[in-house]
Amino acid sequence: MSKQSHAQWSSRLAFILAAVGSSVGLGNIWKFPYMTGESGGGAFVLIYLVCIALVGVPILMSEWLIGRLGQRNPIASMSLLTRRFKRSPAWVLIGVFGILGAYLILSFYSVIGGWGLAYIELGASNAFAGLDSAAVGDMFSGLLADPTRLLLWHSLFMLLTIGVVLGGVTGGLERATKLLMPALVVLLVVLVGYAATSGAFAEGVAYLFTPDFSRLSKDGVLAALGHAFFTLSLGMGIMIAYGSYLPQEVNIGRSALIVVVMDTVIALMAGLAIFPVVFANELSPAAGPGLIFQTLPLAFGHMTGGWLFGVLFFVLLVFAAWTSAISLLEPIVEWLEERTPLSRVGATLVAGAATWALGIVTVLSFNVWSGVAPLGVFAKFDGMTMFDLLDYFTSKLILPLTGLAAVLFVGWCIGREELHANLKMGDGAFALWRFAARYVAPLGVIVVFLGSL
Ligand code: PHE
Repeated sequence: MSKQSHAQWSSRLAFILAAVGSSVGLGNIWKFPYMTGESGGGAFVLIYLVCIALVGVPILMSEWLIGRLGQRNPIASMSLLTRRFKRSPAWVLIGVFGILGAYLILSFYSVIGGWGLAYIELGASNAFAGLDSAAVGDMFSGLLADPTRLLLWHSLFMLLTIGVVLGGVTGGLERATKLLMPALVVLLVVLVGYAATSGAFAEGVAYLFTPDFSRLSKDGVLAALGHAFFTLSLGMGIMIAYGSYLPQEVNIGRSALIVVVMDTVIALMAGLAIFPVVFANELSPAAGPGLIFQTLPLAFGHMTGGWLFGVLFFVLLVFAAWTSAISLLEPIVEWLEERTPLSRVGATLVAGAATWALGIVTVLSFNVWSGVAPLGVFAKFDGMTMFDLLDYFTSKLILPLTGLAAVLFVGWCIGREELHANLKMGDGAFALWRFAARYVAPLGVIVVFLGSL
């Protein structure tokens, strides 16, 4: 049965590369370390790993399955499947919220991608050489304090993203990913090596891998869950879209393992590269979103060849962010193209411009509006800037709820036989997966949610 209503990946490798390109990004290198630092270290890492394994993997597989069964964009796939399995059309909201989530995330993602661009320039002008931690901190606060500079870099990052989606040059991107992802891993190995020889390595490792649950709050648990969704690009219809191009013979379970292992290893390596430098320089692990920008330049400024490594690192960081940003813009563009009379080019420009405009809110959150807490009347959101709120509502609300709906649909609305035929796993592995999809993942999300209220 190979009724195809649209194109397919040219190979399994092409599919894996695209999925890794979307999942590996700022989430792994920028967000994971600073969230770990804010949430107290090892206990957060442990809960995060549990969330990835018990919630992330089953949901990733569910999203790919929905796409492969539906063979259409996320919204159309869901509406086809609700009709086919005679379920309420309300499930289509999975697709709708996915698009909203992608829009909100991309708006701030692009600003952080812009920080990466700014640091390429700083690295290239040898600005890290010999700096001490105070100077590195000043360099970062100087960038944040300057809305014009932030806006310029955000605009450039957005243009890069729009450019690729406009040109549809994903073929070239695929080839670049094949080269640059391994390069990123190699560079992270170099950085971990540096941290091991000149940082407080033992302290960093202990911080990351010795769980101390007294330092983990309920909100930290929700943060770990939310980050599992963010880092794997779940709950946004992106993986549904990727699944829709997936040939029948590709094994979904095995592919999920490859993507998840890659994603997790890269995040942990970033942690291992950063925390030893943090402790060796008596910086605070809880420095927040600036953490990598306030620590890694210290390492680059002191190692031999640090100038080159610094530039390379930020180039690779931006590249990883870029492939993720493209995967965020794409579904918004497809949706606009389908729902409005806009052409592909028109839809890309409108979606890009709208995202860029919302990004200004994040730009201003770090300076002019840094004291503005729009939801400050609620104790829970006291002191949270617009950027904090965008992050909160996407990672801690939209993504987990949309992902929850996707896994519930697959686990409870699609028949056992159909699932088994599609997943082609051994009986034992299939039973395990189905149990996770029906009970473990949904209950996990629900319990964490209720607990944090
Ligand atoms: N997974 C990407 C990262 O970790 C971010 C992302 C989130 C991309 C959601 C697409 C969708 O950086």
